[in-house]
Amino acid sequence: MKQPILLGLAVLVMTQSAIAADAKRVSFGDLADGRKIEAVELTNANGMSARIITLGASLQALSVPDKQGKSADIVLGYKTAAEYLSKPQYFGVSVGRYANRIAKGTFTLDGKSYTLAKNDGPNSLHGGTKGFDKVIWQIDSVKGGSPASVVLSYTSPDGEEGYPGTLKATATYSLSDKNELTIDYKATTDKPTIVNITNHSYFNLAGEAGASDILGHKLTLVADAFTPVDATLIPTGEKKPVAGTPFDFRKPTVIGARVRDGRDEQIRFGRGYDHNYVINGADGTLRLAARVEDPSTGRVMELLTTAPGVQFYSGNFLDGTSMGKSGRIYRQGDALCLEPQVFPDAPNQKGFPTARLDPGKTYSNTMVLRFSTN
Ligand code: GLA
Repeated sequence: MKQPILLGLAVLVMTQSAIAADAKRVSFGDLADGRKIEAVELTNANGMSARIITLGASLQALSVPDKQGKSADIVLGYKTAAEYLSKPQYFGVSVGRYANRIAKGTFTLDGKSYTLAKNDGPNSLHGGTKGFDKVIWQIDSVKGGSPASVVLSYTSPDGEEGYPGTLKATATYSLSDKNELTIDYKATTDKPTIVNITNHSYFNLAGEAGASDILGHKLTLVADAFTPVDATLIPTGEKKPVAGTPFDFRKPTVIGARVRDGRDEQIRFGRGYDHNYVINGADGTLRLAARVEDPSTGRVMELLTTAPGVQFYSGNFLDGTSMGKSGRIYRQGDALCLEPQVFPDAPNQKGFPTARLDPGKTYSNTMVLRFSTN
C-alpha cells in the first residue's frame, strides 16, 4: 500500500526539481548603434530569478522573496540596454580589467610602466573609459537544472585600455534552489598583467521599485580593519582597525547611524562609505564577508567571498540624474554596493595582496549571494 504513494511522491519531487531551476535566453533590445543585446533569465523553485545581460555581463534584475513570500527586484538597473552606455553608473555590471582605483592611472610591472585612462579625477577607475562593463560579452553556455547557470566570456586584446596581455575572462552566474546566486569570475593571460574583476550590483533589499533608501538596512561586515584613503579615494597603505570608528560593522549596525558623521575625515572623503574592508580569514577561501538585513521586508542577504577585500559603497554619487527600470529616480543612499575584490591601487602598494596574473595561472574571484528572511 505504501509503495505506490512513496513512488508517487518521488515522481512529484523529481518533476518539481526538474522544473525547479531553469534558464532561458531572450532578447534585451538593441544599442543605439543597432548592436543586439541578449539576456539570460535564471529562475528557481522558490520565487527567485536573475536576469543577466550580455552588455557588461551585468546582473540587470534580481528578484527575491520577502518574509511574506512576495518577490521583488532588489537591484538597481536600467530598463534598456542603451541607457547602460549613455548614463553609465555601473549598475550590476562586471567591472574590469581593474575594479576600483589605480592612482594617477599608472603602474609598473617587471620594470615597465603602463598608462591607463584617468577617468576619476587624477585616477583610473573601474578599467578605464571602455571597461568590461561597456563591452558585449559572448554567451558560452546556458544550463537549466539546479543550479541554473549562464557562462559569458570576453577576450580583451593585448594593450586594451592600456593593460598588458591578452586577457580571456569568463563570468558564470548560477542560481540554486537554496536561494544562492553565485557569481564566479575567471581569467587567464598570455603576458604578465594585473587583474581585479568584480560585480558592481547596487542592492536595496526593500525593493528597487519602492521609495525607501538603504539607510535603515542593518549591515554586518566581517572585518577588523579597513584601508583608509586620501581625498581622491586612493588608499594610504594603512590597514586601520575599525574599532572605535564609524567603520566598525562587526556587530549588525544600521547604515544610517554614522554615514553622516563628518567628524571622521574618512567619512568626509567618501561622502559616506566608499571604502575597502580587509575581510577576516584567508583570501582564496570562500568565507562570510557581509550580512545585510532590511527590517521592513525581512529580506537578508549574506555575501560570501574568496577575495581579500570588499568595497562597501553607500551609493554616495547617486544624484537623481538616473531613472531606474521601474521609473524611480535614484538618489544618494538609495542602494549599497559590496564589491569583493583585491584592494584598490594594489599594483602601487607594498603590503597589499597582489593583483598580478602570470601566464599559465588562472585568476579567480567567487562570490555567493545567499538570501533568506527574518
Ligand atoms: C565604486 C567606487 C565609487 C563609485 C562607484 C560607481 O564603488 O568606489 O567611488 O565610483 O563605484 O559610481
